[in-house]
Amino acid sequence: MLRIAMLTSGGDCQALNVAMRGVAKTLYKNVEEVEIYGMMDGYKGLMYKNYRLLEEKDFSGILTQGGTILGTSRTPFKTIEEPDAEGNNKIELMIQTYKDLKLDCLVVLGGNGSHKTANLLSQKGLNVITLPKTIDNDLYGTDMSFGFQSAIDIAANTIDCIHTTAASHSRVFIVELMGHKTGWLTLYAGMAGGADIILIPEIPYSIDVVVSAIKQRKETGKKFTIIAVAEGAITKEESELSKKELKKLRLEESKKYPSAAYKLGALISDATGQEVRVTVPGHVQRGGQPNAYDRVLATRLGVKGAELIMKENYGLMPCVRNNQIETISLSEVAGKTRMVEPDADIITQAREIGLCLGD
Ligand code: F6P
Repeated sequence: MLRIAMLTSGGDCQALNVAMRGVAKTLYKNVEEVEIYGMMDGYKGLMYKNYRLLEEKDFSGILTQGGTILGTSRTPFKTIEEPDAEGNNKIELMIQTYKDLKLDCLVVLGGNGSHKTANLLSQKGLNVITLPKTIDNDLYGTDMSFGFQSAIDIAANTIDCIHTTAASHSRVFIVELMGHKTGWLTLYAGMAGGADIILIPEIPYSIDVVVSAIKQRKETGKKFTIIAVAEGAITKEESELSKKELKKLRLEESKKYPSAAYKLGALISDATGQEVRVTVPGHVQRGGQPNAYDRVLATRLGVKGAELIMKENYGLMPCVRNNQIETISLSEVAGKTRMVEPDADIITQAREIGLCLGD
């Protein structure tokens, strides 16, 4: 009998169910006796024995379903080694559940934070396989995580919709996109949606450059401008600050500006006198059905995950390299963030078509 548990951890995204389906279908097809336990609401389910034994039918009809059938939650890694409210050791609780269920492997679908905990559990002796999910695409060791392409579609569609109203009203529009500390989503959605200015954390922006790009458009008869700005975008001046100083500044500014786009909006309207509007699609970007690309990607990664389990090859994350599904060790993935390289091909290509990147 093969016994595994699955859990989804951190922010949800499209194609989580698809990836779990890929693992489950492969195991049911190739292994005579399989028990799959679903841990509810992320690592919490593993800690507090909140799980259910899943059946083959639970994995049918979920290919197109967004979110996660298991629920998810954030369990910050920085507090994972602190006792819980009852004074219990959270790691020991998780190990105990694993042992009590006589599991052969734990499958964790997660992003950056979740991988740190997965790696810790692996180091503590549990058999762990992970699958790379996040709309941010910032997970080290894989060219692509599932969720990313679906989120791009939604974000690009938002920019498409903004185009018509921006053109009608001759306004400057700022669309703020998710991505945490990285600019992958903003860069790809910005290019796909035809934004005029794209601002990402990896390339700190100068407000003077942004303002002059807007003025230049106006001078050439283009009455509107669309700016795609990443939620983590920073100005050149802010990039000189220490982490602590920036945190302090953000806290002070939060009373005035709810997020990066609002600050940018205020700076632009002061400098140009033009009407500025801000749109923040927020969690819409993580919602709804996975697109076709993510369905295929998550299935391929899920199948690879199941193959690793069948070969008892643990401590790994299936990943994408040059469109091939390969693997990388959890210790290599954990604790790193994959940023956009400022000299990457795509950045050069963005500049070639005249996109302003704020620098
Ligand atoms: O990591 C995915 C993500 O959507 C980020 O892009 C965003 O910064 C964050 O999660 C939002 O987190 P929450 O859902 O906890 O508000």
